[in-house]
Amino acid sequence: MRRSRTKDDILNEICKGEVISGGMLASRLGISRTAVWKAVNALRAQGFFIDGVGGGYMLSPYNTRLCNKQAEFAVKAERLIFKEKTDSTNEDAKKLAEAGAEEFTVVLAKKQTGGKGRLGRSFFSPEGGLYFSVILRPELPASACLKITTAAAVSMAKAIMRTTNCPAKIKWVNDIYISSKKVCGILTEGAFDAENGRLKYAVLGIGVNVGTPKGGFPEELEDKAGALFDTSAPPSLVYFSLVNEFLSGFREYYKNVDEMPHIEEYRKYSLLDGKIVSYKKDGKTHTAEVCGIGDNAELIVKDKKGERPLLSGEVTITNYE
Ligand code: BTN
Repeated sequence: MRRSRTKDDILNEICKGEVISGGMLASRLGISRTAVWKAVNALRAQGFFIDGVGGGYMLSPYNTRLCNKQAEFAVKAERLIFKEKTDSTNEDAKKLAEAGAEEFTVVLAKKQTGGKGRLGRSFFSPEGGLYFSVILRPELPASACLKITTAAAVSMAKAIMRTTNCPAKIKWVNDIYISSKKVCGILTEGAFDAENGRLKYAVLGIGVNVGTPKGGFPEELEDKAGALFDTSAPPSLVYFSLVNEFLSGFREYYKNVDEMPHIEEYRKYSLLDGKIVSYKKDGKTHTAEVCGIGDNAELIVKDKKGERPLLSGEVTITNYE
């Protein structure tokens, strides 16, 4: 939806987290105070939550209603599709990608009814979480999905740290943990051009447990899943900050993602170094110690037979401290 220049300028000024007076807004924008007042009222009528504090204005940081109007304004994507509810943002994004949507189109939903996880699992997606998918069009072979996913994991871990100060860590390959609880999962799906084996597009799907679900996590997730906030409805600005911090970090890595510019940071954020893990291979369960992360984001593990790289799959920590 198009807004007037004045309204956009006012939003830019009042979204910085500080109260700004009508007079100050008027002089910064070179308009009258009456014009400011009228524009603020029009924005409120459009659905923006603008606090009036002691004669000044600020975009409400306490608004807990993540809504379309604010999201359209706040999220710095090429195009944003906001959904109150959807089956899966990855599925929506794939349809849009097939229909030719441009790179960095983002689909963001308040809840998903059929959230998809890795390895064919479902991803619990109640209201209070952040669920979004980004359309990418990398000119790369199919194998680049791992590079994209790991770049996304670093970007999201940093976005969580910057937004919440929580010490986020990456559990190989692309889960984000705080202490012993998973707070974020990432699922990258790609479509390939059979003629040249290159990606036609990729959809990067990210789910973050921002708020604690009303009624808590289901029993099967209780011990494993955590959230960034105790409340079920954190301020909407938290969601926008997470998405924007993520996008700005990820865009940088993505420019030459084929060269894995994020690998050193990935190592720094890795949760698994020195941990004893178990994993399944050839139908058997193995136990090994994690030595580190290789240059292609493979997990290097060591057991009595020596060191070996794990290229994909999932490991479980057996000695969590
Ligand atoms: C995992 O932890 O197994 C990956 C979870 C990925 C979930 C996100 S939420 C947004 C996007 N839409 C989906 O259906 N899945 C991803």
